[in-house]
Amino acid sequence: MQKVIFDTDPGVDDAMALLFLHKHADIDLIGITTVFGNASVETTTRNALFLQQEWGISAPVARGADQTYDPARTPVPWPTFIHGDDGLGNIGVPDHVDGNLDPRPAHRFLIETIRANPGEITLVAVGRMTNLANALREDPEIAGLVKSVVIMGGAFDVPGNITPAAEANIYGDPEAADVVMTAPWKVVVIGLDVTMKTVMSRAALAETASQGGKAVELLSDISQFYIDFYGKLVDDGMVVHDSCACVYVVAPHLFESTTGTVRVLCGGIADGKTIMKPDGRFFPPSAWDDLPSQTVCTDIDANGVLKLIHDTLAA
Ligand code: RIB
Ligand code: CA
Repeated sequence: MQKVIFDTDPGVDDAMALLFLHKHADIDLIGITTVFGNASVETTTRNALFLQQEWGISAPVARGADQTYDPARTPVPWPTFIHGDDGLGNIGVPDHVDGNLDPRPAHRFLIETIRANPGEITLVAVGRMTNLANALREDPEIAGLVKSVVIMGGAFDVPGNITPAAEANIYGDPEAADVVMTAPWKVVVIGLDVTMKTVMSRAALAETASQGGKAVELLSDISQFYIDFYGKLVDDGMVVHDSCACVYVVAPHLFESTTGTVRVLCGGIADGKTIMKPDGRFFPPSAWDDLPSQTVCTDIDANGVLKLIHDTLAA
């Protein structure tokens, strides 16, 4: 069993990823930390508690950052046109949900849980990287105590999805993402280069829901608004960005990757752009030198990933 803390901004594709982590037999989901992004942190935390309750998830939710790592940064508006006003496809989530809410802020929950489980925890981060960067700022030693960090974010050899240069999770807090990419821990980056290839059709989701019962029926209801939005970009279906990062934890063989040091541009017209210096390539001295080598995914067996998601949710 792999111990996972899921750092998330639910968020429609986040909801699918959460259900995958909850249902996969090889994953022990030990915490859910929330962050602003697809909606305010009040809303993403309420949504995490809602999903926790609806799906009978025992892991606690810890509320995280409500602003960027550098508080002077101008905030990005909530993408209500993708995830709905309620962050979950306008299904009518109750305003207040009681649930298993940890009293600690997310970054402290991360630090204390990592320290209590040295070398065992995989962090799967699928929103802004703010909670992870805040945890590193408070306790840099945790970098050596984490098993690995798998993030959904970035765009290397493809256009961004919020600007031509940047992917939304990174653009929403570039300084935090640069802290995470350059820290001395093992990061696997799952960006738009692979996630945009991974589309679950509306029909396939309906079929999964017909087998997976009430939990997947709720997920299907949540997802319809998002699928309508993505109709402008892909054939009728759901880009499963955040689930790709979760699948990597249990099935890395479904991905191709390369290694190198990664920096995030902070400011300018390419604000939030992720750039890798490949290992073994030599350049004059640059801001990519003397940093940890990270893993960047370059291709994906999309059918294999979709089948694993289907099989896990339908079971
Ligand atoms: O760019 C895709 C990412 O942005 C996903 O994590 C999605 O939930 C949105 O926040
Ligand atoms: Ca997300």
